[in-house]
Amino acid sequence: MTTAEKLAQLDAHSARVLRCGGPKAVEKQHALGKRTARERIELLMDTGTFTEVDRFVRHRCTSFGMGDKDIPADGVVTGYGKIDGRTVFVYAQDFTAQGGSLGEMHAAKICKIMDMALEAGCPVVGLCDSGGARIQEAVDALSGYGQIFYRNACSSGRIPQVSVIMGPCAGGAVYSPALTDLIVMVEKESQMFITGPAVVAATTGEEISAEDLGGADTHTTMSGVAHLSARSEEEALGAVRCLLSYLPSKAGARPPLMDFTEHEELQPLLDTVIPDDSSLPYDMHDVVRILLDEDSVMELQPYYADNIITCFGRLGGHSVGVIANQPFSMGGSLDINASDKAARFIQLCDAFGIPLINLVDVPGFLPGADQEHAGIIRHGAKLLYVYSVAEVPKLTVVLRKAYGGSYLAMCSKDLGADFVYAWPTAEIAVMGAAGAANVVFRKEIQAAEDPKAARREKIQLYSEQFATPYMAASRGFVDLVIRPSETRARLLEALELLINKERQPHPRGNMPL
Ligand code: HXC
Repeated sequence: MTTAEKLAQLDAHSARVLRCGGPKAVEKQHALGKRTARERIELLMDTGTFTEVDRFVRHRCTSFGMGDKDIPADGVVTGYGKIDGRTVFVYAQDFTAQGGSLGEMHAAKICKIMDMALEAGCPVVGLCDSGGARIQEAVDALSGYGQIFYRNACSSGRIPQVSVIMGPCAGGAVYSPALTDLIVMVEKESQMFITGPAVVAATTGEEISAEDLGGADTHTTMSGVAHLSARSEEEALGAVRCLLSYLPSKAGARPPLMDFTEHEELQPLLDTVIPDDSSLPYDMHDVVRILLDEDSVMELQPYYADNIITCFGRLGGHSVGVIANQPFSMGGSLDINASDKAARFIQLCDAFGIPLINLVDVPGFLPGADQEHAGIIRHGAKLLYVYSVAEVPKLTVVLRKAYGGSYLAMCSKDLGADFVYAWPTAEIAVMGAAGAANVVFRKEIQAAEDPKAARREKIQLYSEQFATPYMAASRGFVDLVIRPSETRARLLEALELLINKERQPHPRGNMPL
């Protein structure tokens, strides 16, 4: 062969692979409103920056007539490119090629990309659209999954890992996304489940659709498996770009510092946000929006455990993670799901050096047999643990209620908060005034001529003495009682002070909690 012929051969090989699973399969994919793996990568990456690796990898399976079967790129496109100018590694399963099923070489390609990403200190994004383990490859396929899980775990907390579910994701295959830091699901076209509807029906007799069992709605409202759902593939991939903008390329590096403009005129609104009647709710989202840089808030799991808000945002251009009780839902109390949701978010922020801002208005851990029997002690303890060991700057603002164990669990001074600010409306105490009066003054109330009036009086007495920030401030548990409208300025000041806070060099995994 001449050199020219060899070059033409390369072009022919490439063209064969770039057709994905062929025109018919691509047409079927498009008819379902889905894109091919290559089209998705183009959307995800900065234009023209993608470089493919392992384009010519071929499977080695010979069982069940597979020997002659051509599966372009072995059903997964892998490589690297740029997102907002930073290098990101990507793998995208190609459903048009043997259903994106995962065999030995398909897995080896994903593993290679994960290894390269860890070595280069760059994030990995996985676009999942697959019929699962390639049945013809039997245990080789299972081994492939195992090797991916192993790498997911070993890379955890060292480089950001993001999964986008853009088709079926079934069986043990769901555990690779579950081991990554963030999961985005495309509504109506993606499902995640350990056992699909047919197996569920056969084993339990329960009839349920794939969508109800493991669609985006299910996992963003009920199970908490996914962090975000998107109405379209464009929206999902846009969300990934946005998520990565808050994260560094690797642990120990800094997230990009963004431009911002001050919005001083909004700050006085905070002075009126807390209702005079402390039993009334308000929307903590308003507080978060006012405190952070304009248009910088990206909430995770907004419809799951909405009694706690977890979001990325920016303060003075720096990435921050906000954990905030939401009085609008269950009074902002902490239950099992809220504890798990917040704990994993805190762990993620700590792994990647993102400072924490804790906005506290919490009446307590949710009481009840359901919660106790399901292990609120075990789940609540995760919150205490991750806050205690987190070494990023920790800034706490007590807006209103901060009672008992939940006061500590929202990152009090004792759990290592670098700064604790309290608003004059803060009530930092062992419990609410009504409960406290019932216990402390029980005998006096019972003996009174008018027990109801006596109880009211004792509640008032307790509130004045203890349901304030001043007792905590007198002991130094609160660094400063501040006007709400000066909160942003104080937080900015503290963040600038702490942005170079020393951290132990040990790696921190982001274990699924
Ligand atoms: C081999 C597969 C495949 C698989 C799909 N294909 N899944 N080939 N192994 N797992 C092939 C099909 O044979 C077909 O090939 C092509 O991909 C497209 O699939 P269709 O069935 O035509 O697509 P569709 O009708 O859209 O149905 C999609 C589907 C279905 C629902 C995902 O393909 C399906 O049920 N697949 C099997 C799912 C499954 O049980 N996987 C194993 C899960 S257990 P042709 O040649 O006809 O185009 C698992 C264990 C992992 O993954 C454990 C990890 C620890």
